[in-house]
Amino acid sequence: MIGRLLLCAVFVASAGCGQSELELGERIYLQGHGADARLDYRQGPPWLARAGQGCAVCHGREGQGRIVQAGTLTGAAPALTSDVLKARGYDKQSLRRAIADGLDPSGREFSYYMPRWILSDGEMRALQRYLETL
Ligand code: HEC
Repeated sequence: MIGRLLLCAVFVASAGCGQSELELGERIYLQGHGADARLDYRQGPPWLARAGQGCAVCHGREGQGRIVQAGTLTGAAPALTSDVLKARGYDKQSLRRAIADGLDPSGREFSYYMPRWILSDGEMRALQRYLETL
């Protein structure tokens, strides 16, 4: 009981209680909407902020990957299913680095097309939990 209360207190501080972590992760993935505001990114295509979209607009609703075209730019957004991410050598920490800092497990920097997302710890946890379901 005390454990649950403590967990809830941590969750309130980071992501808002009463909202399931998985629901938050899904909302981030599909709509780009975080615990209480639209997610922002440090670097990435400007049209994304205007479009009000999440990961799915580029990586596909099921994480199957897509070729994304915006104006004259074309980017290949790879699949993000849990099998593919595992095969690519991702663990929790390197996945966090990919999402926030734009680096793959070997330290290669992604193209400008992959946004460098700004997420709270709670939002990052929720998003990673959702990605495990894809
Ligand atoms: C505007 C399109 C776009 C959006 C939106 C986007 N990504 Fe990406 N993402 C890309 C592209 C393009 C790459 C490949 C970059 C490269 O390899 O240079 C990529 C790569 C990645 C990778 C590395 C995959 C691998 O195989 O190494 C991860 C993980 C990832 N994105 C997660 C996310 C998550 C999570 C979100 C949402 C919070 C997101 N992306 C939103 C375009 C996007």
